[in-house]
Amino acid sequence: MPADLEAASVSISDAGGLRVEWQPGGHVSDYDADWLRGHRGGASDRSHCGPAPAMWGAELSKAMPGADYGDVTGSDDALMTWLRLLRDFGVAVLRGTPREPLSVLALAGLIGPARATNFGEHFDVVSKPDPNSNAYTALGLPCHTDLPNWERPPDYQLLHCLENDAEGGDSVLVDGFRAADELRRREPAAYRLLTRFPIDFRFQDDESDIRFRAPTVALDEAGAVAEVRFNFAVMDAISAPPERVGALCRALRAFAVVIRDPALECHYRLNPGELLIFDNRRVLHGRAAFDPSTGRRHLQGCYVDRDQLLSRIRVLERSASLQ
Ligand code: OGA
Ligand code: ZN
Repeated sequence: MPADLEAASVSISDAGGLRVEWQPGGHVSDYDADWLRGHRGGASDRSHCGPAPAMWGAELSKAMPGADYGDVTGSDDALMTWLRLLRDFGVAVLRGTPREPLSVLALAGLIGPARATNFGEHFDVVSKPDPNSNAYTALGLPCHTDLPNWERPPDYQLLHCLENDAEGGDSVLVDGFRAADELRRREPAAYRLLTRFPIDFRFQDDESDIRFRAPTVALDEAGAVAEVRFNFAVMDAISAPPERVGALCRALRAFAVVIRDPALECHYRLNPGELLIFDNRRVLHGRAAFDPSTGRRHLQGCYVDRDQLLSRIRVLERSASLQ
C-alpha cells in the first residue's frame, strides 16, 4: 500500500452503492450500501455477537428459555431458535435428551467440540470420597462462575442430568450482568473497585496449579459489562497494596450480597434427561445442598466455546426460513 493512498473520487454507483477511485494506481472499489450500514461501527456495535443481552432476575424461574431435544435435532430452524435463546439470555434448557452416560459430549456437538480443562473433557458431578472440588460433595454451592483461575475461563457450561432423586440439589442461576448493574446502582464505589483491581485466583491439587489475576467485573471498550469472575472457592490471597485490601474485600462482600438477593435468583430443578447450558462468563450458577441418603444425584458436565456457538448460529441463519 502506498503511504499516500487517497480516494481521488467518490460517487454513488448506479446500483446505489458507494464507488471510490483510489490514487495512485487507479483501483476502483464498489461498496454495497447494506454492507456499509452493517459496518458503520460506533460504541454500541454488536454485529459480531448478536443483540444486546436480555437481562433477567427471579421471574426466569417460571419462564426458563428452552426447547425439546426431538425438535432441535429434527429441525434446523428449531435448533437456531434455541441457540439464539442461549446467546441472548445466557441460559437455556433442553428437555427429553438421551439419559445415557456421556450424552453430554454428543449434546455439546449440537454447538461444537467440548473444551477440555484440568477436570477433563467431561466431568461427573457426584458426591465422591476425597473430592478435589466442592462440586463433588453434597454441599450447597453459593452462586459462582467456574474456573476464574484460568486466563480464559470456559464460555458455556453444560450440565446434563442423569439422576436427581435426592432431596435438595435444586439449581440456582443469577444473571451476572444484571447483578453487576445492581451493584453499580447500589454501591458505585464498590463497583468501580471491582472493575479496576484484579483478584487473585488459584486452583491446586496433586496434578495442577492454575493461577490468574483478573478484575471481578470486566468492561468492554464502551464501558458495558463484558464478563464476571466470582468464585470464593478458588480465590487466592489478594495481592494488593495493604491500603486497598480492606476496600476490595468489602466490595466483594457487597457484590456477594447483591448476588444472594432473592429478586435476582432463578431457581430450577433439573430432571433426568434435561440439559442445562449457561454462559459461564456471564451467568453465575449454584445449587442447594442435597441429602445423598435419600437418593442419587448425578450430572455430567463439559464446556464449549462461544466462537463455536456464534458460528453455528450464523451458519444456520444462512439457510433459515425465519430470520
Ligand atoms: C459445577 C457446579 C452445580 C451442581 O459442577 O461446576 O457448580 O448443580 N455444579 O451440582
Ligand atoms: Zn460450578
